Amino acid sequence: MTNVIKNKTCNKDKKMINQQDNKKTKIKAPIVEALKNAYETPSYQFHIPGHTRGNGSLPEFKKLIGKKALSIDTTDEFDGLGTLHPATGPIKEAQELAAKAFGAKKTFFLLNGSTAGNLALAMSLTKKGQKIITNRNCHRSVLTGMIISGAEPLWLIPKRFNEWGIWGNVTPESVEEMLKKTEAGLVWITNPTYEGVVSDIKSISEVCKKYNVPLIVDEAHACLWNFNSHLPTSALKLGADAVVHSLHKTGGSMSQSSMLHIAENSKIDVDAVEKALKLLHTTSPSLMLLASLDAARANLESSRGKKQLERAVQNAKYLRKEIDKLEHIHHLQPDFGYKTDITKVFIRDDRLSGKRLESILEIDFNIEVESASDAGLLILSNIGNTRADMQYLVKCLQQIDKTNYSDICYLENKKYMPMLTPIIKMTLREAFYSHKEVVPKKDAIGRISAEVIAECPPGIAVLLPGELITEEHIPYLADYETIEVIK
Ligand SMILES: Cc1ncc(COP(=O)(O)O)c(C=O)c1O
Repeated sequence: MTNVIKNKTCNKDKKMINQQDNKKTKIKAPIVEALKNAYETPSYQFHIPGHTRGNGSLPEFKKLIGKKALSIDTTDEFDGLGTLHPATGPIKEAQELAAKAFGAKKTFFLLNGSTAGNLALAMSLTKKGQKIITNRNCHRSVLTGMIISGAEPLWLIPKRFNEWGIWGNVTPESVEEMLKKTEAGLVWITNPTYEGVVSDIKSISEVCKKYNVPLIVDEAHACLWNFNSHLPTSALKLGADAVVHSLHKTGGSMSQSSMLHIAENSKIDVDAVEKALKLLHTTSPSLMLLASLDAARANLESSRGKKQLERAVQNAKYLRKEIDKLEHIHHLQPDFGYKTDITKVFIRDDRLSGKRLESILEIDFNIEVESASDAGLLILSNIGNTRADMQYLVKCLQQIDKTNYSDICYLENKKYMPMLTPIIKMTLREAFYSHKEVVPKKDAIGRISAEVIAECPPGIAVLLPGELITEEHIPYLADYETIEVIK
């Protein structure tokens, strides 16, 4: 099938957005300003990076990303741009502005995504043998943090919705039950889930306070919540101690850049968190990435950014309303039993797997979605998406809904959303540092896994070091011929 739908309104829509974009942002963005100043008053440079404003770069690369991008590719210490560790100058100022915007006591800019934030929190707040209550569908970075610190997970297994292939939320009751029967030192909740399912963080934080344990909330997918009243409330306002936000995912900053916030009333040791971040971070932070965090925060606070976010919310509502009219394609209703983030639209076609639907959208209509599983696929209504983008997507879905795909045979031997209850034989750290061997997949059943096996996205683990490999895992391991196991 060829793509017959033309995106006619796109140019008009883009022009409107460009006009909006040209209006100056009045909100302060100190790193952006300092970088602009450095660009406009160039010096003779005899320091890193050695490409020296692109002069030493491959011409094809320079053409691709532009001379200007290479001219502002610099690291801290130079040109009055401040330092990241400790935060000084414009970087310090930008972090303070971010803390204010997100409602935190302290905000750290992260250059290895929320992964760096989760690792730093694990390193600074947990120690060997300490028990941590966390949801099984947590991101692999939480687990890596435990491998580093030697802390051990106590798994909360949320309810599963097999029809949609997704996990439900974490209940305050399940947290309390676990706190009652164990000696956990920390609660670490992912909120929302990858598909936007929201937990009752206020009640969970009350439970944590009752048992006097800190609460970390991995809000990697929720950095927009503080900027629009149609979106759920951020854990920073609901009693969490620390929160990570992947600004690069939905907030408009460049890939890899994120933020770690410490909440206003938190008693966690901020200096210890900072020390861990210093250990984890590069010693040559990219000013471009830091500026993109500063710019993303400034944009979200500006009236233009607020309009973009409101448009993302309205686009999601429009998409959902149009999908409601279709025969075969459905969306996970925003009130399907849980609170959800409306901008994350999970859809499925009752005739097709999510992966198949994804490939139809990609090959026939040139549409790329956030992710697909065997059950369905995830569409993000982003601050950068126009109404024309959404209208095009709707037209394509309408066409798919009308088309009979039963003539095409598609073999699927792989499942994408791990939803298994782990059988733990060893701690994560013990297993990670044990002697290992590689065995063919068929011989791995009954052995103990030595590796983290997690599909990315969403990065939720199928198997972790120290867990027993069973028959049940095999459908999730289609990409693996061999598995690393404990010797
Ligand atoms: C829940 C969650 N936490 C943390 C991360 C890590 O974020 P980053 O890619 O910014 O390192 C992800 C990434 O997908 C995630 O889904």
